[in-house]
Amino acid sequence: MIKALIVFGTRPEAIKMCPLVLELKKHKEIKCVVCLTGQHREMLSQVMNAFDITADHNLCIMETNQTITDITTSVLKGLEPVLKIEKPDIVLVHGDTTTSYAAAMAAFYRQIPVGHVEAGLRTGNIYLPFPEEMNRMLTDRIATYHFAPTEQNRANLESEGITGNVFVTGNTVMDAFAYTVRDDYRFHEEKLNRIDCEQNRVVLVTAHRRENLGQPLCDICDAVKKLAENNNDIKYVYPVHLNPAVRNTVYGMLSDTDNIILTDPVDVWDMHNLLARCYMVLTDSGGLQEEAPHFGKPVLVLRTETERPEAVKAGTVRVIGVDKHIIIEETERLLSDDAAYGLMSKAVNPYGDGHACERIADILRSLV
Ligand code: UD1
Ligand code: UDP
Repeated sequence: MIKALIVFGTRPEAIKMCPLVLELKKHKEIKCVVCLTGQHREMLSQVMNAFDITADHNLCIMETNQTITDITTSVLKGLEPVLKIEKPDIVLVHGDTTTSYAAAMAAFYRQIPVGHVEAGLRTGNIYLPFPEEMNRMLTDRIATYHFAPTEQNRANLESEGITGNVFVTGNTVMDAFAYTVRDDYRFHEEKLNRIDCEQNRVVLVTAHRRENLGQPLCDICDAVKKLAENNNDIKYVYPVHLNPAVRNTVYGMLSDTDNIILTDPVDVWDMHNLLARCYMVLTDSGGLQEEAPHFGKPVLVLRTETERPEAVKAGTVRVIGVDKHIIIEETERLLSDDAAYGLMSKAVNPYGDGHACERIADILRSLV
């Protein structure tokens, strides 16, 4: 028997770790204990409810306007007693959030091996994205087991001298689709049921990253407003992150345009089914860059770099930055030029076959 403590705290980690929790619970050789840090609150419980998983522990650390230091110290302090009580054989963390890094560090302080799910993603710039690039580098340095989504991720680890216990598994987000995507889906968010996606093309918009807060987010909103005014048969759907620094800007700038539909964060079922039905995506999200290509939906990335070059190489993702003129020009090209749209709207999936969780479970079972 191996006891795995799975620690996560934000929406994207939860979406990618819940399928793993469900998989690990199938195996009698694995005792799976879930600890939430609660770095996110509502956006985290949305995912837990969607997958019908109840956590064993919740550190409930979230504060309004929390700093990275707040998150780091609260996770370190909060996890110590959990690790003492549970005495896991391994701690599993995900990706690049401050929860992931601090949880890995907390495990290291008790000399408990760490498994890093979604290991090896890199931009090569420690400030882009901030603080995620450093979080994932440090987590990979601490971890004993590295579950890398792609061969590129394995190569990134190798170039940093990390070669032992690296397993290319695919990304667990591909496993999540088996739970969420339905042909006859009815949205939980009523505003989405009122859109006829056949009649009106939908551009899905999200933006939340720390480095885009302030002027870059204002520029993104300016561009979306202008796009909506220029193309009033298109619906721009923007589920707005709960960070007040995001909400104040987005609601302040975009709430009075008829064909811009602002919603609260939608649950993962709604999001995946919306991706399946939308025309294209404008986003600074990491996860959406992996998910949208699976559905053949072009993604314009509102950042200057990406740690996910696989879908860029495949042609469905383009990194365009946050200059409002470029956002307008590139979006309108995809709206009006069938050939340009055709080139990007290919269903590609460099992120795995939907069996990443099984591979990780097999590796854990081999440790018993
Ligand atoms: C965090 C991660 C980021 C990830 C993002 C996913 C860090 C440093 N950042 O950024 O890598 O891309 O999650 O969304 O780990 N809030 C709520 N309710 C919620 C969630 C957030 O009210 O359910 C508000 C709170 O006021 C909170 C603020 O949003 O202080 C920011 O949350 P935080 O986790 O610090 O940053 P994110 O931008 O969400
Ligand atoms: N997502 C969601 N509802 C939303 C916005 C995003 O379920 O309103 C999902 C999305 O499908 C993806 C994940 O959240 O799986 C991405 O999270 P986010 O963009 O917050 O973080 P990132 O991936 O950039 O770290």
